[in-house]
Amino acid sequence: MALALERRCANRKFEDMSLLEVKNLQVRVEEREILHALSLTVNLGEVHAIMGPNGSGKSTLSHVIAGKPGYEVTAGEILFKGEDLLAMAPDERSAKGVFLAFQYPVEIPGVATMTFLRTALNAQRKARGESEFSTPDFLKKVRSVAASLNIPQDMLRRGVNTSTRCGLPPTASMRCVRLTAPWW
Ligand SMILES: Nc1ncnc2c1ncn2[C@@H]1O[C@H](COP(=O)(O)OP(=O)(O)OP(=O)(O)O)[C@@H](O)[C@H]1O
Ligand SMILES: [Mg+2]
Repeated sequence: MALALERRCANRKFEDMSLLEVKNLQVRVEEREILHALSLTVNLGEVHAIMGPNGSGKSTLSHVIAGKPGYEVTAGEILFKGEDLLAMAPDERSAKGVFLAFQYPVEIPGVATMTFLRTALNAQRKARGESEFSTPDFLKKVRSVAASLNIPQDMLRRGVNTSTRCGLPPTASMRCVRLTAPWW
């Protein structure tokens, strides 16, 4: 899961508070309790790796934070920048920078990466009450981000997450995180 954790976040007032607070979270799936009073604090600028045996609930935690349906939170709370994350719809959470990025994401042939990124970025800007990027501004931005990540320009014209000639794993999620992060 990718979270907006960078220090460059424009909202400096949040620097002194925890970015993400999971407090005594209890989660059930199909009548079985998977998470038992789990607590976790992530501060701005920190990167956390969640480790544990198979079936211990790592994916469950990520899914609940992102808002995937099918999980019942029976106790506890999740705060993002002090706001109740569990009260938000998944798209509201993603607009705030909380969403899942997959190691092996789904390929979407026929949808150009450039189109996908532009739609994602403008949806984020709209959610923040900002105006959409014009085509020239968007092209300038996406090219600069691609260059900073050493992503060849021709990959932006390919289908979303479609395999590359050199066999590298798809990186649309990474581009999306970089491009749609609130500080852009
Ligand atoms: N949709 C579901 N329906 C029923 N049981 C589920 C569901 N999702 C997860 N579980 C159960 O919840 C437990 C935790 O699963 P979860 O996938 O969160 O573990 P994990 O730590 O991510 O495991 P892994 O290391 O294998 O990825 C497992 O026992 C799993 O069978
Ligand atoms: Mg898992």
